[in-house]
Amino acid sequence: MTQTKIAGIGMYVPANVVTNNDLAQVMDTSDAWILERTGITQRRYATRFEETSAIMGVKAAKIAIENAGITAQDIDFIVFATLSPDYYFPGCGVLLQRMMNMKEIAALDIRNQCTGFIYGLSIADQFVKTGMYKNVLLVGAEVHSYGLDFSNKGRNVSVIFGDGAGAVVLQPASKQGQGILSTHLHSNGNGAEVLSMINPGFHGGCYNAEKKPQQPAKPYGNMFITPDRIRQDDFYPFMDGQSVFKKAVEKFPEVIQEALQANGYKANDINMLIPHQANLRISQFVQHKLQLRDDQVYNNIQRYGNTTAASIPIALYEAWQEGKIKEGNLVCLAAFGSGYTWGSALIRW
Ligand code: ACO
Repeated sequence: MTQTKIAGIGMYVPANVVTNNDLAQVMDTSDAWILERTGITQRRYATRFEETSAIMGVKAAKIAIENAGITAQDIDFIVFATLSPDYYFPGCGVLLQRMMNMKEIAALDIRNQCTGFIYGLSIADQFVKTGMYKNVLLVGAEVHSYGLDFSNKGRNVSVIFGDGAGAVVLQPASKQGQGILSTHLHSNGNGAEVLSMINPGFHGGCYNAEKKPQQPAKPYGNMFITPDRIRQDDFYPFMDGQSVFKKAVEKFPEVIQEALQANGYKANDINMLIPHQANLRISQFVQHKLQLRDDQVYNNIQRYGNTTAASIPIALYEAWQEGKIKEGNLVCLAAFGSGYTWGSALIRW
């Protein structure tokens, strides 16, 4: 069976930089607190209505498609991973299909939060391997900033997340041994509420200017449940940070080892590990546990915060742009997040 290669990568982040000191103006926090606990110095926040998950996904996709040397017309399957879709439904995949004037191809949305990109990669891989599709566009995009609680109550969550998008084009590998070697997916719903949001709180998308709400209702954009019928807190993400931390540092190394063992490799064989950018402390813990050198792990959460489904393709793009991923390299992608869900992919570049 043919293996699947990553033929092109792209990313997009909003121009609006929000530093830790900016956040300290609106809530009781500090640059020192955020830096020490998360490693984050700044993140990007989208411009409402102009930079939605779908719109940013399009911008990242255009770069990935160009880098793959194809056109949007060549794409035969869209996989879109996001926890912050423009609409509660339909998903972002069809919005991207429309904005990019693509053919009437299949579009699938994935709701697996921080592991969304790995789940998407695994799904895309199956379709390419079997020969069903030849050019799959996989997008991870998030707009967190519209839906965070910027009061002191939500500060443990709101300082962590940022907005952005990343995309890859997947094709049948052209060389023997090249491409995705294996993917490994897991979940355990016992942790479902530990990092969760009960109701949709994102309303980014509004393609018709006349439909822009004059005074957006807060909680945003829920068609079915009016704010007076539900607790306001249910529209904000909730996180028990310490529980997430403990589970993440257990599952990240486990799922990376699973990918290595499945292919007969050891941690030291990895040329580049791109962990989901959850928290710099989590990445450092994983690096230490696997005894990897600094040059074997790529992190950019310092500049973008945690962009959930977008974080791996954004980091992959920057690592590749900086020449840190070269042909023949063994690249490992791994994620852990809400669900709980976790997963990994091992790729011969
Ligand atoms: N600024 C200042 N103080 C804060 C902030 C803030 N932004 N947030 C919380 N605090 C305060 C709390 O109120 C508490 O004060 P108290 O002791 O007076 O009650 C104190 O800091 C400690 O609070 P904790 O929530 O226990 O803080 P902790 O040390 O656990 O750090 C953090 C919180 C950074 C979220 C940490 O638990 C963590 O990193 N968890 C991992 C979660 C994570 O990475 N999530 C990413 C998303 S999930 C994913 O992508 C895998």
